[in-house]
Amino acid sequence: MGRMNLRQWSVVIGVPAMAVLLGLVLQPWIGSGAIMITMGLLSIFLAFLVIESRNFGLGLFERQVKEVRSNYVQMEALLAIHSTLKPAAPLPPTRFWAASPDLLRELVTHIQRHRPTCVLEVSSGTSTVVIGLCLKQLGTGRVVALEHDPHYAGITRRAIADHGLEGIATVLDAPLKEQMVNGERYPWYDLSTLELVSPADLLVVDGPPDTLRSMARYPALPMLAGHLARGARVLLDDGGRSDERAIAHRWAAEHPGSTLDFLPLEAGAWSLRLP
Ligand SMILES: C[S@@+](CC[C@H](N)C(=O)[O-])C[C@H]1O[C@@H](n2cnc3c(N)ncnc32)[C@H](O)[C@@H]1O
Repeated sequence: MGRMNLRQWSVVIGVPAMAVLLGLVLQPWIGSGAIMITMGLLSIFLAFLVIESRNFGLGLFERQVKEVRSNYVQMEALLAIHSTLKPAAPLPPTRFWAASPDLLRELVTHIQRHRPTCVLEVSSGTSTVVIGLCLKQLGTGRVVALEHDPHYAGITRRAIADHGLEGIATVLDAPLKEQMVNGERYPWYDLSTLELVSPADLLVVDGPPDTLRSMARYPALPMLAGHLARGARVLLDDGGRSDERAIAHRWAAEHPGSTLDFLPLEAGAWSLRLP
């Protein structure tokens, strides 16, 4: 619990002071009744403070319980990833800027079950390494990740080398440029150097940053549909955000016969199965 700010101090001192002042003002008119009014107001204020602090404490407790549960779920997912993939070098960080462990576990499970020949990622990072490790273990498949930021492209390439994933995982420099998508302008990845060995069976969308504009990740499917295999799966991270919900539903509406599911993961994710 932090220290009280000026506003809180002024309420705690100011309200009782006002009650006492009111009593003093009323005393010449109503005599001892003024003391009763002051005592009544002070009691109500005290009850208010007790209830408020109790609610605050309960809210804090609830948040802490949720966080402990969430940390447990993510630790469990991280352990599952490590015990399945047995990385020879430390995995890059998960959560925050990177995908959460529960989404990464979903990727590992999907790749093990469906053995995609080609995975395409919109953004690069920890997920690229995890997907690459999974494909390496299966002995089949490639992952190509589009990256707009040369600095992070370099960091991911180094992680790919640390894990011996050259030839399996590739980070493609794809600077953002203004593009027309279904009649609207979007800053989106330059695809001029994109070449895939075969159409992608899995598309993972975790970029560009949502700060660029509203529906920033919408172009992924219209721009990459021509690179996807029939029946491909599209996974959209950060599905808990309203923009991502709208994007997923728009994609589904633009691809009749597709199946859309929400995955209740830490950041939420949308899974679209194309017809
Ligand atoms: C939402 S993050 C997700 C990246 C990826 N899907 C993952 O799980 O790591 C998207 C962007 O974060 C940036 N990024 C990549 N590596 C990073 C790092 N080590 N630290 C901070 N940002 C990074 C990249 O520009 C990337 O496109």
